[in-house]
Amino acid sequence: MTRRKIILTRRLPPRVEERAARDYDAILNPEDRILPMDELLAMADGMDALLIGSSEKFTADALARLPQSVKILATFSAGLDHIDIAAAKARGVRIGNTPDAVTVATAEIAMLCMLGAARRSWEGQKMLRDRQWFGSHSTQLLGRRLDNKRLGIFGMGKIGQAVAKRARGFDMAIHYRNRSRLTPAEEQGAIYHDSLDSLLAVSDVLSINAPSTPETQGMLNAAAIAKMPSGAIVVNTARGDLVVDEDLIAALKSGQIAYAGLDVFRGEPRINDGYYDLPNTFLLPHMGSATIEARDEMGFAALDNIDAVLAGKEPPFAVV
Ligand code: DGY
Repeated sequence: MTRRKIILTRRLPPRVEERAARDYDAILNPEDRILPMDELLAMADGMDALLIGSSEKFTADALARLPQSVKILATFSAGLDHIDIAAAKARGVRIGNTPDAVTVATAEIAMLCMLGAARRSWEGQKMLRDRQWFGSHSTQLLGRRLDNKRLGIFGMGKIGQAVAKRARGFDMAIHYRNRSRLTPAEEQGAIYHDSLDSLLAVSDVLSINAPSTPETQGMLNAAAIAKMPSGAIVVNTARGDLVVDEDLIAALKSGQIAYAGLDVFRGEPRINDGYYDLPNTFLLPHMGSATIEARDEMGFAALDNIDAVLAGKEPPFAVV
């Protein structure tokens, strides 16, 4: 039987590439070169499936030019903001993502950002590495404890709930805003807010865990920040475009927001210059899912999606 043909657009973890090469005629990308869309679409002719990443922007135009041989775009991500879903539906190509695989790793990075911000981790690291630590004293690098603080979670899907679970271990009180209220079993005592304003008002720490959509983009702007308690902490491990950078940077300078822990940025990897010199930020280069466990699981989930569609079955993580 002729083997099905797939492209892995980016280099993926070894075990994922091994499985792809075992089961398919797989074109790999060992140099991890970002393929221009025209080149990728030309390569896709005659392919059965593409395992893509967020670096491949499948706009309506790209989807209209996608060869008919391609039955599924399996994205190595939970996020879908690089794919025009309506256009994919119109084109009739299946889309699968990896929603479960990133949950724990992303929740862990949210806790890292929360602690990194609250405990002034960057300033401590810098002092040490600049060889400027001449001894500790009672008022040096004083941060904030997390216990007894109110954690406002914006977006209480799988990742938001996983953040809540971990934050309970730090004795934080959990509040949340979500499109729909969770069941009591899912809430585990978390307090639901039926408006963003109401959540902001109680957020000593705000954790952004919602996807980027027209409704959520720019939700953390100057007006929203003004509704938060003075000296609050902001954590964003979801998508950069939920935050208006200029407004957050101004609030970090004025102290309205005391600290921010950010793993994602609008326009990344070219982030707003204003962040670089702010001492009260803990910044990471979009590392939420960057663990061996999560990246293997993501790759396997993407291949599961491809396996199912090419076998004429329903993909386990179907978006379209
Ligand atoms: C995801 O899976 O969407 C992560 O943010 C990595 O892009």
